Amino acid sequence: MVLTTLLLFLSVSPLVKPEMFTALVHMEKSIHAEKRLAKEIRSYVTKERERLNELERIANEYESHAESAMGDMHATLANPVSAFLLVKRFTTDWNDVLNKYMTPNNTNQFIASLPQLTEGFPSPEDLDGAAVALLRLQDTYVLPTDKVAKGEIKGVRYSPKMTAQDCFQLGKVAYSQGDYYHTMLWMKEALTILENETSKTIEKPIILDYLAYSTYMQGNWIHALNLTKEWLNEEPNHVRAQSNHDYYSKLIREAKENGKKDEELDVVNNPRQLDEYRQSEEFAKYEALCRGEETQVYPLAHKLTCQYKRHHPYFILRPLKEEIMYFDPWIAIYHDLMTESEVKRIQEMAGPRLHRSGVFVTEDNKSPTTNYRTSQSAWLSDNDDPLIRAFSGKIHLMSNLTLPTAEHLQVVNYGIGGHYEPHFDFARKREINTFESWRGNRIATVIFYMTDVEAGGVTAFPNLGVKLYPEARSCAVWYNLMKSTEGDYRTRHAGCPVLTGSKWVANKWIHERGQEFTRPCSLKPEE
Ligand SMILES: *[C@@H]1O[C@H](CO)[C@@H](O)[C@H](O)[C@H]1NC(C)=O
Ligand SMILES: *[C@@H]1O[C@H](CO)[C@@H](O)[C@H](O)[C@H]1NC(C)=O
Ligand SMILES: *[C@@H]1O[C@H](CO)[C@@H](O)[C@H](O)[C@H]1NC(C)=O
Ligand SMILES: *[C@@H]1O[C@H](CO)[C@@H](O)[C@H](O)[C@H]1NC(C)=O
Repeated sequence: MVLTTLLLFLSVSPLVKPEMFTALVHMEKSIHAEKRLAKEIRSYVTKERERLNELERIANEYESHAESAMGDMHATLANPVSAFLLVKRFTTDWNDVLNKYMTPNNTNQFIASLPQLTEGFPSPEDLDGAAVALLRLQDTYVLPTDKVAKGEIKGVRYSPKMTAQDCFQLGKVAYSQGDYYHTMLWMKEALTILENETSKTIEKPIILDYLAYSTYMQGNWIHALNLTKEWLNEEPNHVRAQSNHDYYSKLIREAKENGKKDEELDVVNNPRQLDEYRQSEEFAKYEALCRGEETQVYPLAHKLTCQYKRHHPYFILRPLKEEIMYFDPWIAIYHDLMTESEVKRIQEMAGPRLHRSGVFVTEDNKSPTTNYRTSQSAWLSDNDDPLIRAFSGKIHLMSNLTLPTAEHLQVVNYGIGGHYEPHFDFARKREINTFESWRGNRIATVIFYMTDVEAGGVTAFPNLGVKLYPEARSCAVWYNLMKSTEGDYRTRHAGCPVLTGSKWVANKWIHERGQEFTRPCSLKPEE
C-alpha cells in the first residue's frame, strides 16, 4: 500500500507491561499483594523464631536442672523447699510453658490475616484462562512449543523458562478440555525438560500417563503402547498402566489382522482439534492476517492514499491525517486523533469499571461471556465527564455523523491472548431486537487504538484481506451498513489475540437514526 505523507506519523512503541488474559486489573493487585505477603510471612517467621528460641532456652534450663538434681537426688527430694519448687516446676510452671510457648497463636493469627492479604489473587479459573490464552497464541502465531517453554516469543526472551512441572500443568489444562493436541505437545515438552532437570520438578510416570493417553486419543496406538511400556518400566505394578498396555496391544493386533501395515500404524500424528467453524477458510484467513500474512491481492492497493483534511475550523490547526485503507467498503485510519491526555483520562476513568466483556447479541438481552471474546470493558457516557463529551464532539466532526443515537464509549482492555473472533458489528435481520428502534442499527464503527500493542492485536477483515495495526492515538472508521441500510457482510472483522503487551481500545458505535441528511439512504440494494 502507498504511504505518501504518513510515514512520519508512525510512532515508536514504548514497553508495555504484559498483562494476563482478562483479569489484568486483578493481576496488578496480586503483584502488589505479593510484596505485602512477603512482609507478613517474614514477620510471622520472626515471631515463631522468638517462640522457638524461648522453647530452646527452656529445654536447656530443664536439662541443666535435671543434671544437677540427679547429682544429689536424695538431698533435692529431702529438702522441703526444693521439693516444693520441683512440684511447682511440673505444675504451674509447666502450664505456663504450655500456654505461652506451645500454642499455635502465631500461626492462627497469620492464617486469620490471609483472606485479606490474598484478596484479589488469581483464581483457578484465571489459571485456566491464562493457559488457554497461551495455547491460543501458540496456535494463531504458530509458536513452537520448545520456544514458548524457554519463554521466547518471536525470538525475544520475555519470561523465565518453564519447568517440567509448568509444562505438565499447561498440558493438564488442555487435557481437562479434551484438547489432546496440546496435551501431547506439552506433555512431550515436559518429558524433554525433565530429562535435564537436576532437581526434578515432577515425577516421570505421571507425565507418561497423560502423554500415552493423549497419544492414543490422537490415533497413534503403537506410540501410545511404547510410552506405556516406558511407564511400566518405572511403575511395573501400576494397574491402569497394565490394562492400558493390554488394551493398546489388542487394538494393534486387531488392526494388523485387518490388514493394516506396520508403517501405517507406526506414524505419529497430532492433528489440531478444530471445531467446524475453525476449520473454515474464513478462520484460516483470520489467523493468517493476525500473523501479518497477505491473504488476498487488492487490485486498487496502489490507489490508496493519505491526506490532510480540514473540512471544519476545528481541524485548521490540527488537520485530520486520513489514510484510506480500502475503498469499497470504505475503511479509513485517522492518525493522531487522540491526545495523550485523552488516553490517560479515559484509562483512569475506565480502569475501576472494567469487567469481563460480553457480546451484544442475545434473545433475552443478556451479555454472556464467551471464549471467543476475552477482554474487559467499561462504558463511559458523555455525562460522566466533560472530556468524554468533548471527545464525542470530535468524533462528530471527524465522521460527519450525528451522535445523539450513538452508544456510550466502550473502553476495552485486552490482556495477553485477549481477542475477539470474526464478527459483525451490525445486527442482522434475525437479531432484529438487538437495538432500540429510536437508535436503529449500527451504521458506523469508530475504533480508537489508545495504545501501541507490542505484538499482535491487529484488527483483521478476513473477507477483504485488510489488517489494521493498532497505533497509539489513531482510530479506524468504517460503515457497517450499505446505503440501502442492509448490513455490509464484507465488514466482518476480528481482534487478533494480543501476543505481548496489552491493548486498549475505545469503541464508538454510531447508529442509523439522525444520519438521514448526512448519509442519506438509497433504495438500490447494491449501494
Ligand atoms: C493464645 O491464644 C489464646 C486464645 O486465643 C489466649 O488465651 C492466650 O493468651 C494466647 N497466648 C499468647 C501467648 O498470646
Ligand atoms: C539437555 O542438555 C543437553 C546437554 O547439556 C543439551 O544439549 C540439550 O539441549 C538440553 N535439552 C533441553 C531441552 O534443554
Ligand atoms: C516403538 O518402539 C519400537 C521398538 O522399540 C520402535 O521400533 C518404534 O519405532 C517405536 N515406535 C514409535 C512410534 O515410537
Ligand atoms: C466529512 O465531510 C467532509 C466535507 O464535506 C469530507 O471531506 C470528509 O471526508 C467527510 N468525512 C467522512 C468521514 O466522511
